[in-house]
Amino acid sequence: MDRRPIGIFDSGVGGLTVLKQVVRFLPNESIIYLGDTKHLPYGDKSKDAVIRFSIENTKFLISQDVKAIVIACNSASSVATPVLKEKFNLPIVDVIEPTVECVASDSPKSVLVIGTIRTIRSKVFNSKITSLNSNISVSDRACPVFVPMVEEGAFIDKDSDLYKALEKTISHYLADFKGKVDSVIMGCTHYPLIRDEIASFIGDGVKLIDPGECSAIKLKEILEQNEMLSDGYHKFTKLYVTDLSERTREVVKMIMGNGIEIEEVNISET
Ligand code: DGL
Repeated sequence: MDRRPIGIFDSGVGGLTVLKQVVRFLPNESIIYLGDTKHLPYGDKSKDAVIRFSIENTKFLISQDVKAIVIACNSASSVATPVLKEKFNLPIVDVIEPTVECVASDSPKSVLVIGTIRTIRSKVFNSKITSLNSNISVSDRACPVFVPMVEEGAFIDKDSDLYKALEKTISHYLADFKGKVDSVIMGCTHYPLIRDEIASFIGDGVKLIDPGECSAIKLKEILEQNEMLSDGYHKFTKLYVTDLSERTREVVKMIMGNGIEIEEVNISET
């Protein structure tokens, strides 16, 4: 048994969708979450910058004595996972590898990956899926406008103009794939929040895959295998961000509801 917390990091607070999945599958675990809001978004940053930030995030979480790390950010997972696994000696679960395993075992004919520009440009989902199962045809589409729309709460009021704009934006990005894919990987922390809207556009019978869910299941497996699960004694959840703005508070409230304490931390000092 290991009662130390699980560390989760993301470019911001969108990764709380992944935290929710970790809580769902591992309800006894303590969690320390770090959102690197100072450097948000990672989705249009260079590969080198995202790797640098990811190393700092990981060092901070390790300084908090975490037993394992989840890279909740798809953009960070797409470029930083091998570097982090090489550099740090603890279980590290990203959001891409477990998702690819889920997809490959499902054997769909065609998969669409959607994500930020950084994630889509990396082609990591594509190459990993086809190397596991070369019969799956993989297409992809960067949807950079989804993140700001989700953070603006466009999905909340179905009667609002913003909701209509969200539906139009989904159509703009996904129209080419309608009726042509069996599965869609929601390869960005924010997309599970507009799951229903994506599902209703792309059509019944298309499977939507949430990488947060696949990663949480994988993490559970790893902790079980290594006898590192906690019994929930003195369980806690702590949320740190590298820049605490009003906007960040609003997005946290939108995803998690009221009553979550957030603390700002300067991680370059750790
Ligand atoms: N967390 C990022 C991801 O999953 C989305 C936000 C960003 O661009 O940093 O790719």
